[in-house]
Amino acid sequence: MRIAIGNHKGGSGKTATTVGLAAALAELGRRVLVVDLDPQANASRRMGVRVDAAHPIPTISDAIRASQTGEAPGAAAEAIVAPDWPEPYSDRIGLIPSRFDLENRISEAATVGAVGRLRRALDGADDDFDVTLIDCPPSLGHLTQLALAAAHAAVAVLDPEYDSVEGAVRLRDFVATTGAELGNPSLRLAGVIVGRVRAQLGAHSYQLEGLGDLFGPELVWSPTVPERAAIKDAVDEGAPVASLGNVAATGVAEIYRDLATRLLKEVAA
Ligand SMILES: Nc1ncnc2c1ncn2[C@@H]1O[C@H](COP(=O)(O)OP(=O)(O)OP(=O)(O)O)[C@@H](O)[C@H]1O
Ligand SMILES: [Mg+2]
Repeated sequence: MRIAIGNHKGGSGKTATTVGLAAALAELGRRVLVVDLDPQANASRRMGVRVDAAHPIPTISDAIRASQTGEAPGAAAEAIVAPDWPEPYSDRIGLIPSRFDLENRISEAATVGAVGRLRRALDGADDDFDVTLIDCPPSLGHLTQLALAAAHAAVAVLDPEYDSVEGAVRLRDFVATTGAELGNPSLRLAGVIVGRVRAQLGAHSYQLEGLGDLFGPELVWSPTVPERAAIKDAVDEGAPVASLGNVAATGVAEIYRDLATRLLKEVAA
């Protein structure tokens, strides 16, 4: 099962959620592949993998380029690496890293069939994984369209701020209107994950109250993720949040495990 994690709005918590879910799924015994589909390469760095001139390893950009119509599927298999995390569950996690040169794929958008290249790259490459999480850039352009063409479902990540909610609505509507045109008519929005919640902030409570009406209550996954310094610290350190070992980090890791369990229900459905 492939899940595209997106929001039109930047900084909504897509990558924090992708990385948190990946660690949680692996802790729960599942094999999970993270596809970093953002030229910012934030997921790669947060999982301890940097691609630069000194470390020229294959990236998702190479896999997409190698997956033109007529080429063999599964090119992404060559780009799968392990995260540089010491946790024992890391051996159940694969990462296809990214680098800023992923921007070069965008100019190919007008080529016939280009939108199917990530699907072709992953077909056969992610068979051994229970879940593939695709971390999308803050855009509904070609890179996100590659993800939506490849995915079985999309999950929106938002923080409870007006613009972020709007960005998630645009993703939902985009999924509904363009799935068929992307060659993926069964694509659906499977859930909305709410992150960076400040419970004491009136504006956040107001946005949270409206989400059920906006998306349908069954689509808004619980629990929500609170704003926690532990998440920022994990992001800075390029480590899974649970590894920080403090009470807040342990609590956050538990929330990601609950969300991962919710995601697995979706996979089973
Ligand atoms: N629950 C949280 N508590 C505290 N900080 C958070 C939380 N979630 C995300 N952040 C912080 O917010 C910032 C943006 O998060 P993140 O990079 O995951 O968003 P994004 O949607 O992937 O951004 P982009 O659109 O640039 O890809 C990061 O610096 C991260 O540390
Ligand atoms: Mg991101």
